[in-house]
Amino acid sequence: MKCWLITLISGLMCLISCEQQPYQIGQRLYQAQCANCHMDTGVGLGALMPPLAGSDYLAKHRQTLPCIIRNGLQDTIQVNGQQYAEQMPGNKNLSDIQIANLLNYVMQSWGNNHPPYTLEEVQQALNQCPAPK
Ligand code: HEC
Repeated sequence: MKCWLITLISGLMCLISCEQQPYQIGQRLYQAQCANCHMDTGVGLGALMPPLAGSDYLAKHRQTLPCIIRNGLQDTIQVNGQQYAEQMPGNKNLSDIQIANLLNYVMQSWGNNHPPYTLEEVQQALNQCPAPK
């Protein structure tokens, strides 16, 4: 096989796998850290766990989502007109990049189509997290 062809093919393969990687990392993190409450398909669980699929909260609170992932949430919130008041635990062990990949998976899955976060946007948001109560 000609050398340029090999270069082209390996280049293309990297394009495919390198492109998908952040999404897949986000998916794996989601399955490990989030799916037991929000479910694999993001539908939530009845009146206890709010949905992420089709959630109007995502666009309305884009700025605070990174802090919610890191520090958790203990509040009474509205998602798609329903009230939720259970507690979500924080994920202090996740790095800024992991939070970005995780959020981008949520923003782009199950029919959600929100613009992806850049790492800078996530870090700026994390710098402004309210002090834990
Ligand atoms: C122990 C169960 C639990 C786990 C694990 C959990 N959450 Fe939550 N999550 C909740 C609850 C309960 C709320 C609502 C909190 C409130 O009312 O203050 C919530 C709220 C949310 C919200 C805002 C409301 C909405 O539905 O859009 C987002 C976004 C979210 N969680 C994402 C995640 C992500 C991403 C992970 C994984 C890192 C995760 N959650 C892990 C229980 C959980």
